[in-house]
Amino acid sequence: MKYGKNVVLFTLFAMNLVDQPTPEVTIAQGTLTGKISSDGSIYEYMGIPYASTNSSNRFKAPLPPPSWEGTFKATDEIYSCPQVTLLGYMGTEDCLKINVYVPAFAKRPLPVMVFIHGGAFLIGSGGKIINGADFLVKQDVIVAAFNYRLGALGFLCLGIEEAPGNAGLKDQIAAIRWVKQNIAAFGGDPENVTIFGESAGAASTAILVASETTNGLFNRAIIQSGTSISNWSVNRKPLWCASLLTKELGYETEDPHEIYEILSKMPYKDLVKLRPKKPLGMYFDTQLIHLPCVEKSFPGVEPVLTDLPFNVLSRNPKNITLMTGSNSNEGLFLVARENADTLAERNTHYLFASDLEFENEDKAAFVAEQVKEFYFEDKPISLNTIMNLSAVYTHLYFEIPNIFENELYLSHSNGTVYNYFFDYEGDRNVVKRLTGFKKERGACHADELFYLLDSRIWPFRISKNDQEMIHFMTTLWTNFAKYGNPTPPSQTDLPIQWYPSDKEELRFLYIQDHSRMGSMPNPKAYKLWKDIYTKYRRTNVSDYSY
Ligand SMILES: *[C@@H]1O[C@H](CO)[C@@H](O)[C@H](O)[C@H]1NC(C)=O
Ligand SMILES: *[C@@H]1O[C@H](CO)[C@@H](O)[C@H](O)[C@H]1NC(C)=O
Ligand SMILES: *[C@@H]1O[C@H](CO)[C@@H](O)[C@H](O)[C@H]1NC(C)=O
Ligand SMILES: *[C@@H]1O[C@H](CO)[C@@H](O)[C@H](O)[C@H]1NC(C)=O
Ligand SMILES: *[C@@H]1O[C@H](CO)[C@@H](O)[C@H](O)[C@H]1NC(C)=O
Ligand SMILES: *[C@@H]1O[C@H](CO)[C@@H](O)[C@H](O)[C@H]1NC(C)=O
Ligand SMILES: *[C@@H]1O[C@H](CO)[C@@H](O)[C@H](O)[C@H]1NC(C)=O
Repeated sequence: MKYGKNVVLFTLFAMNLVDQPTPEVTIAQGTLTGKISSDGSIYEYMGIPYASTNSSNRFKAPLPPPSWEGTFKATDEIYSCPQVTLLGYMGTEDCLKINVYVPAFAKRPLPVMVFIHGGAFLIGSGGKIINGADFLVKQDVIVAAFNYRLGALGFLCLGIEEAPGNAGLKDQIAAIRWVKQNIAAFGGDPENVTIFGESAGAASTAILVASETTNGLFNRAIIQSGTSISNWSVNRKPLWCASLLTKELGYETEDPHEIYEILSKMPYKDLVKLRPKKPLGMYFDTQLIHLPCVEKSFPGVEPVLTDLPFNVLSRNPKNITLMTGSNSNEGLFLVARENADTLAERNTHYLFASDLEFENEDKAAFVAEQVKEFYFEDKPISLNTIMNLSAVYTHLYFEIPNIFENELYLSHSNGTVYNYFFDYEGDRNVVKRLTGFKKERGACHADELFYLLDSRIWPFRISKNDQEMIHFMTTLWTNFAKYGNPTPPSQTDLPIQWYPSDKEELRFLYIQDHSRMGSMPNPKAYKLWKDIYTKYRRTNVSDYSY
């Protein structure tokens, strides 16, 4: 048997079938070829430029992509956009590239799934190393994944024409437009496009769903552990955050033109390496600096957002179908960064974010006390109560805003929402394992991704249970992309029927060992936050300006 396999491999090698070029594809930019996956089932087109960027459009919308003569070899793993990771600086400025994965033998035209990667708007890439698409492509969809600008290069927001904000989101829109224009040449159906993203990629997806700029650009969206309406999705003080960067360089200014002069002339590597520490306010804080923002309007500049997503969704949301959810213990990756000192410090702060506003400090302190009591009773925040803090993070940043967003959407559009709650604990809950909280209950932030994408960073043998979960989830996700329904009536072999939510009732698919439908996971926490946000949510967009 082993011998036989080697012979086959040797024959393929001798015939030069491994990494053979794919059929040629011709798009407006020119002709390209990719390579055939080693098992022959996927055509991979790697690193196609979908837009371009250089110092001339720093902080602004991307420029059109280049065209070429001859045949472009789309075969190399893409470089990421400039970023600083645990391994140090990496990336290149000219990073606006997209990978397209096409099932070789499936019937065309194929539905298309466009992935928006996560990474706190600071790190990550559309490359294969983390975001491999084989699991999904095997279910007969085209998957496209791309880079967008990160950190200050993607999200500096000064409220002036030279740096209006959201350059990274404008890259995302350019990538989706590129797919819409070109995917037919790869065998895709431009009228059957689903965008999906996780974490910052989910916040991005949710903002693109809310944005009026993207009407008609995609047909469906999947939003995994992120929303457009949580405090970490939109920067409330973008100019101040930008001034922290220039302060790091020794300048004391909040003048947007002065800040622009300084940051637009710096080498881009030095710019992404700037890591100011935000002074801690009274509020629960993520220390994120680079986020999407509400843009001012300028003639000739196409904005992504000119109002808070909460307000846009309350007015006229798109009538599209959504699939969305969060994980049962998202907060583990955030508490993993805490120590005894930072936890002690938490006791002196309000346990909510600054997307609330109160008549006075007494009221704020009173509400903060309610939250503290709910999660900690009379105990202080410390290493002993760290799982209670994880619950605060899980609810405040992910689970509860996700439910609020769905409610908004269901009450103001005639679209459909499929809700899930991911609570599976397998060998591929990679992020949970990396946090050191392997023994704690639940699924951590981003754990579900490893059952949808075949990450090269987790090359281990897949257990039988995990294999079943991968099959189950990729079936649901690709059914949604194909039919707008994760469990269509035509498929009688599915173990479950996933009912959508409606205005009267939210219904959740609990993705776990024995998956089942159920009601909202934490109704008491929901009630606590619902009362608070109904009374105190900031909705005045001038609180988010410059
Ligand atoms: C930036 O890219 C554009 C479009 O590709 C090009 O026309 C321009 O010359 C470039 N500018 C610089 C400074 O490299
Ligand atoms: C909420 O947003 C404000 C403004 O961007 C920021 O100062 C604060 O740190 C954020 N809070 C959290 C929890 O991230
Ligand atoms: C969505 O549907 C509602 C109800 O049918 C309609 O009032 C609204 O205009 C539609 N929105 C869009 C963006 O088409
Ligand atoms: C705090 O967390 C522990 C461990 O998860 C849990 O047993 C306890 O019920 C939590 N306390 C509150 C007030 O939620
Ligand atoms: C939703 O509303 C739009 C616009 O009013 C309409 O075209 C569409 O048919 C409606 N969809 C459903 C499922 O009712
Ligand atoms: C999307 O693709 C699926 C699978 O090929 C097909 O059955 C469906 O009709 C398509 N939907 C649209 C709206 O074209
Ligand atoms: C929003 O805030 C601005 C500036 O503080 C204020 O002038 C305006 O009246 C507020 N709008 C509403 C609807 O409260």
